[in-house]
Amino acid sequence: MRDLTPSRDSLDAIEIASRDEISALQLDRLKWSLQHAYDNVPFYKAQFDAAGVHPADLKSLKDLAKFPFTVKSDLRDNYPFNMFAVPRDKISRIHASSGTTGKPTVVGYTDGDLEMWANMVARSLRAAGTKPGDMLHNAYGYGLFTGGLGAHYGAEKLGCTVVPVSGGMTARQVTLIEDFRPTTIMVTPSYMLNILEQYHRQGIDPRDCSLEVGVFGAEPWTNKMRAEVEAAFDMHAVDIYGLSEVMGPGVASECVETKDGLHIWEDNFYPEIIDPVTGEVVEDGEMGELVFTTLTKEGMPIIRYRTRDLTRLLPGTARSMRRMEKVTGRSDDMMILRGVNVFPTQIEEQVLTIEGLAPHYQIELLKEGQMDAMRVHVECLPEHSSPEAQAAHGATLKHRIKEVVGITAVIVVAEPGGVARSEGKAKRVIDNRS
Ligand code: DLL
Repeated sequence: MRDLTPSRDSLDAIEIASRDEISALQLDRLKWSLQHAYDNVPFYKAQFDAAGVHPADLKSLKDLAKFPFTVKSDLRDNYPFNMFAVPRDKISRIHASSGTTGKPTVVGYTDGDLEMWANMVARSLRAAGTKPGDMLHNAYGYGLFTGGLGAHYGAEKLGCTVVPVSGGMTARQVTLIEDFRPTTIMVTPSYMLNILEQYHRQGIDPRDCSLEVGVFGAEPWTNKMRAEVEAAFDMHAVDIYGLSEVMGPGVASECVETKDGLHIWEDNFYPEIIDPVTGEVVEDGEMGELVFTTLTKEGMPIIRYRTRDLTRLLPGTARSMRRMEKVTGRSDDMMILRGVNVFPTQIEEQVLTIEGLAPHYQIELLKEGQMDAMRVHVECLPEHSSPEAQAAHGATLKHRIKEVVGITAVIVVAEPGGVARSEGKAKRVIDNRS
């Protein structure tokens, strides 16, 4: 793998500014954002008034804790456009998150917001080691999902040649990578594994491909998965985070030179970590739920949005801006089995410790009498698929999950290709309890 560290003079000045400079900018921008939301979105006016707070009460960054949270159902209640802070004709683009039930949540961007977003994705790509002039294969889905278009305009902004492939048609993804020879790929980590499998199917050694860095996000993935993908493709793998309510991809991103968690682009997004039960802000370094306030968004400012993602804030390293640890899971994805809390990523880690198993997995929850039970569906690699090998790998996985995670799971080892493949965000948990 080549050293892709960007030169210091290619960075935005604020990325390496002092903490005092960053905090001063944040305070100015936070005052503006609260006032903008209060003046232009009836929902925020009502929320602030009910809590007895006014934008003028914010004298320091810590005062933000006095303001009420915003949650996903607030966006649904204001469907489709009532969270917008500008007239509809000033909104240049709309995105929406699919959501599994009911109405989608809708977000809107002004020209200025789209410009800021492209700049943040360009910054994220630069942090990943991508340079102007590089070719970038974009396999995030295009459409209402923010991944495709968000990545696209950021890559153009950096000065890349963008190949807007979107997700799906996996055999063609390999053909285009082989023929066009891009050096960066943007895709969900689970779909990257699907592409890897296509490489093997087509008899091409992925280590010989042109890719030098993958910018993976939109779903949780472990450091073990990073090691697996980096070894398979002989490329760097870095993490990119975002959510549509706050912007889309590019809220935070990892630096290729450190790969030690995601630097939050704090000039535009103010992070807090709260205790998910009490709602109290916790100190940096402590685990909790990530909350974001936008500092510059015009079309749809969002104040103290509860992401439900669990992580902690860490000091800056490669950049002055604080990092968030790799997201291990969403509070929504947490499963409780006989009193033990489990996230899908903990199962992923154990699956990846077993050489004969493919990295694809799905977790099924079911009822055994009154109790919840878990079945983990995995599959053998083709060269390890004899019945004896299947039984042995299943037994090893069961043992490791019991030892390390602390739960008893039933392991179902399928033939190669037996576990559902992802073309975007993987569905890790199937709930068959009701
Ligand atoms: O997934 C935006 C995105 C697109 C991010 C492409 C990165 C790359 P939503 O569909 O609104 O937006 O889903 C947001 O996905 O709250 C997290 O739970 C999860 N998520 C996003 N990035 C990561 C990541 C896009 N790097 C939700 N690690 C978030 C873990 C992630 N989870």
